[in-house]
Formats: sequence, C-alpha cells, structure tokens
Amino acid sequence: MKKIEEYVRSIPDFPEPGIIFRDVTSILQDADGFALAVDSMQALLDGVEVDVIAGAESRGFIFGAPIAYNLHKPFVLIRKKGKLPCETIESSYDLEYGSATIEMHKDAVTPGQKVVLVDDLIATGGTIEATARMVEELGGKVVKIITLMELEGLNGRKRLKDYDVASVICYE
Ligand code: PRP
Ligand code: ADE
Repeated sequence: MKKIEEYVRSIPDFPEPGIIFRDVTSILQDADGFALAVDSMQALLDGVEVDVIAGAESRGFIFGAPIAYNLHKPFVLIRKKGKLPCETIESSYDLEYGSATIEMHKDAVTPGQKVVLVDDLIATGGTIEATARMVEELGGKVVKIITLMELEGLNGRKRLKDYDVASVICYE
C-alpha cells in the first residue's frame, strides 16, 4: 500500500517564487489516496468528544465533510468573505502568500459546543487561528485541530500553541 506522502505532488515556485506548493489534487485523483487521507485524518480524532466539525474554504471542505459524515456530526462551512447568506461574524489574517477574510454564520456554533477544525494544510496557521477565534467568539470550544499536512518551517504550531493540533504529514 502506498503511503500518503507518495500521493502528494510538490510544485516549486507556485504561486510565487520560493513557495513549494503541496498539491492535494494528486491525492484526490486517486480513490485509494483520497480514502487513505480521510481515514488517516479521522484516526487523529480517536477518543475525542466532538459536537461539530468545521472546515475552511475550500480545501478544508474536501476533508472535513466526509469526516463529519462518517462521524454523523454537523459540518460548518468557514467561507471566504461575502459568500454566506445569513448573519455572519468575520476574521482577517495573513497567509504564506497574501491575506484573506473569512466568515461563518452566527448560528453555526452554540455556546459550549465542542468543535473540531479541519483543513488540508497548516502553513503560517493564520487560517486556523482566525477560524478558532470565530468559533470562540460564538462560545464554542476548539477541542482539536486536524490537518493532512503541516509546513513546520512556517511555525504554525507556535501560533496555535494554545490548541491541540495533529497532522498526518509534516514537511520541514
Ligand atoms: C490554503 C490551505 C489552508 C491555508 C493554509 O488555503 O488550504 O486553508 O491556505 O495557510 P495558513 O496556515 O498560512 O493560513 P487558501 O487560502 O489558499 O484557499 P483554498 O483552500 O481555497 O485554496
Ligand atoms: N497554502 C499555504 N501554503 C501552501 C503551500 N505551500 N502548499 C499548498 N497550500 C498552501
């Protein structure tokens, strides 16, 4: 059986010089790769009590939704600004390249709920930190953060030191 890292295609200098882009499309294009990625991420939740799974647009949806479905838990969409139709809260942050504002519906998490955050990758940790801030603003508790990949050199873990973070693969 192939290991998950063997499915990841790495593209130098995309989208900017100096960035090594870790591409998830090469995992998803292979049914075994997709299943292994979802199963490996879900295994990181063994023993974790969870009420709600939240995923960040867009790659967080790909992995968060099947995990929520498998665990029979609600799935919350964290979207880029301007996409959600009802009352929202927002949070802004910087990325490895560029900056962004994300939003979630105010009624997506209720006070006291245990929330797991899912994304494909942690680079600077900005996206996940901004997501965690919004969940907490609504009174939710971030009980675990899970990702497929983590770029250790960008110190996302340090930024997320107050949280329980687990990834399937770490790149230096
Ligand atoms: C990527 C990735 C993570 C985030 C990681 O998303 O999917 O969400 O960047 O970077 P960070 O740890 O520095 O925040 P991106 O904003 O490029 O959007 P996409 O998923 O729609 O491609
Ligand atoms: N998002 C932020 N940095 C990234 C990288 N190096 N590869 C893939 N997605 C990313």
